[in-house]
Amino acid sequence: MKTKMVTQTDSSHKQVINMHVQSQAVLEVLNLNVKYEDFHAVKNVSFSVQEGEIFGLLGPNGAGKTSCLSAVEGLLVPESGEIYVAGYDVKKQGLLARANMGVQLQATSFQPELNVMEILKLYSGIYGVDLTKEKMDSILNNINLRESRSKKFGQLSGGQQQRVSLVIALIHEPKLVLLDEPTTGLDPQARRQLWERMEALRNMGHGILLTTHSMEEAEAVCDRVSIIDHGQIINTDTPGGLIDKHRNNPEVIRASRKGKITLEDVFIGLTGSQVRV
Ligand SMILES: Nc1ncnc2c1ncn2[C@@H]1O[C@H](COP(=O)(O)OP(=O)(O)O)[C@@H](O)[C@H]1O
Ligand SMILES: [Mg+2]
Repeated sequence: MKTKMVTQTDSSHKQVINMHVQSQAVLEVLNLNVKYEDFHAVKNVSFSVQEGEIFGLLGPNGAGKTSCLSAVEGLLVPESGEIYVAGYDVKKQGLLARANMGVQLQATSFQPELNVMEILKLYSGIYGVDLTKEKMDSILNNINLRESRSKKFGQLSGGQQQRVSLVIALIHEPKLVLLDEPTTGLDPQARRQLWERMEALRNMGHGILLTTHSMEEAEAVCDRVSIIDHGQIINTDTPGGLIDKHRNNPEVIRASRKGKITLEDVFIGLTGSQVRV
């Protein structure tokens, strides 16, 4: 495990003590750079996700969010930088790092002709998880798919598919959960339900890294966010902190559409109003 050097002031003795403490970060990304041939997609990105935290990478299309996640997942080799998952170096201890992360697969990654129970069995087998009948029942109840357990994946609604793919990502109880734009395409009910599931995961101590371009989502569930654009992190704070930091800055808040200043006003101010495709 990685330890971190911290400086602590002992108030009674006015003395500075250096000590090693166990890092509580489930993910640490340090000076990450990703290049696609000549194109520099991620530039010196650093952030961390703590246990029991929902952290959002917030950025417009093409900002570099998925590239950051792909590097964490080990799907691409970064140009430079360090990544630790639960203290394990993704480069040197890839298997251990991956054992501690859960990645929500896109719905299209599942075979549509398999039914819900078959998918649960298949992925339990892949992750080496002993799926007892009790566990299967409890999962099906938990994701509200008991009635639909024999339905083919392809016949499920978008929200139901989302619940299956999230539960698969969690089947080995990973410390870090990675969700790439998980609510895109969901209706408001399914989206709200997913937010509640994320909050439940956070309360169980999982750390969640989420990408989104929805300000509403960031304000609703994220404990902290990094605003990323053109591959660079512009600012990292709590959603409320970002608003407070910029609310009196006319350079950032050029026009507020709703009367009160929102995260969206800050986001547009920091990333520009040009539409990205
Ligand atoms: N495999 C790739 N080859 C070349 N360029 C890529 C590749 N993947 C992404 N990019 C480019 O890198 C930038 C960041 O992409 P991405 O990480 O997917 O952004 P986001 O997820 O924030 O929309 C974009 O300009 C995109 O076109
Ligand atoms: Mg993306």
